[in-house]
Amino acid sequence: MPATSMEELVSLCKRRGFIFQGSEIYGGLQGFYDYGPLGVELKNNIKAAWWRSNVYERDDMEGLDASIIMHRQVLRHSGHEATFSDPMIDNRKNNKRYRLDHLVKDQKADVISKVAEAIGQSAENFPAVVAALNANPAQASQALKEAGVRDPFSGEVGDWTEPKPFNMMFKTTIGPVADDESYGYLRPETAQGIFTNFKNVVDSTSRRLPFGIAQIGKAFRNEITPRNFIFRVRELEQMEIEFFCTPGTDEEWHEHWLEKRLSWWEAQGVPRSKIEILDVPKEDLAHYSKRTYDLMYDYPTLGHEEIEGIANRSDYDLGSHTKNQSELGLVASVEENLDSIAKLTIPHPETNKPVVPFVIEPSAGVDRAMLAVLSEAFTKETLENGNERIVLKLKPHLAPIKVAVIPLARNKAELVDLARSIKSDLQKLGLGRILLEDSGNIGKAYRRHDEVGTPYCVTVDFDTVGKGEDASLTDTVTVRDRDTLAQERVKISELTAYLQAKLK
Ligand code: GAP
Repeated sequence: MPATSMEELVSLCKRRGFIFQGSEIYGGLQGFYDYGPLGVELKNNIKAAWWRSNVYERDDMEGLDASIIMHRQVLRHSGHEATFSDPMIDNRKNNKRYRLDHLVKDQKADVISKVAEAIGQSAENFPAVVAALNANPAQASQALKEAGVRDPFSGEVGDWTEPKPFNMMFKTTIGPVADDESYGYLRPETAQGIFTNFKNVVDSTSRRLPFGIAQIGKAFRNEITPRNFIFRVRELEQMEIEFFCTPGTDEEWHEHWLEKRLSWWEAQGVPRSKIEILDVPKEDLAHYSKRTYDLMYDYPTLGHEEIEGIANRSDYDLGSHTKNQSELGLVASVEENLDSIAKLTIPHPETNKPVVPFVIEPSAGVDRAMLAVLSEAFTKETLENGNERIVLKLKPHLAPIKVAVIPLARNKAELVDLARSIKSDLQKLGLGRILLEDSGNIGKAYRRHDEVGTPYCVTVDFDTVGKGEDASLTDTVTVRDRDTLAQERVKISELTAYLQAKLK
């Protein structure tokens, strides 16, 4: 049975050390989470799987790790200063602030219908309701009051202000300066670091179209209402590709990436049947997008929500940065003499003339990937003896711990030393983390490793060291399979080859 609720996942994540609330000992900081001993392993494994598939296994990709704090001109000319905002609304009664669409969406159905009716829309088309509310702030405030929209905090009908845009970028000062101009932004998407390095990568690698640049890194968004655990956070991590292609071939590449990304999710244990493809309506497209497919994963409790966006960003970003550099006098005017511009263009593969390429951008959230992978793996089973077990059926390449080596008794040096030496040999295979589990209670150890998704447990017992009842078992260990619960006796001399084959 899959996880039935977000609550169960949150509880498992805390109990077993995957994810903790940020700044918890001081009461926590909303929208910030810390990844614990197992969380960091799972996260690294997801990122490694993405990098392997999108960089190493292709011949048309390069990697990048750009800085997080960026020049404010970058975010100005990318359009983020002007448009990267969500509609915010205040309740004058208690000074609480909400994101307008979240506030309305969380109301009872009859209240949503009344809001929609008051602004001449149908509740069936929620994006249109939100768009109409944003377009008419005075009418929106009136509609919310008349419809009886309640404050989620107080439960009372609110005295709603007019909604206004709230820019989600985090601003930060740079250096010990007192003027108003010395600030930068924490990037709200990793993408901009790719665009600003486009020419550096082309010049240093001699890439020709089509090719892509991949990057994994932190991004920051001052969300009005961070919520739903790690689904909507203020400090997030993204895995982004900007794939540059000749204008006119962009639609074909868009379909290529949609297919590639769906198969990647499948390989991580997130099946296509759980992902809906949303062809984002024109009125909801981001400012840079010609067309976007949102992959909507069926999260426990939340239902279908975006896990990845695959956008056709056209030539918006490279074009905009080139144009604005020319405005700043950094390069010649684009319109006047495109040929002479050394910035952010690349030779057209057929004409050899400089062209601003089109961009297809698959952009996935690492935190949302964690949540989806965990929720697909989370399984409750009733065993033959009637006991229930929770088991994380993670794909082996994602499992935080690949093998736990368990001495049957923690106070028997002979067993512990041998287990340590087996652990050390296995660790050298480079499979990922191998753990020496010497907590002493084999039953508890198995339960713990089921819950954290360890594919194999290796037990060193008295038979292993020739002090048990069966002499034929000397120099063998028990290997327990997480999913089938089968236990097999394997010779120590054959153990590395055995596990290597199982975990590959
Ligand atoms: N560069 C394009 C871009 O940033 P986006 O749809 O805003 O597009 C891409 O974000 C992905 O980043 C989303 O599909 C989601 O997985 C993740 N993401 C965005 N905002 C997030 C947040 N506040 N918390 C967690 N993940 C987020």
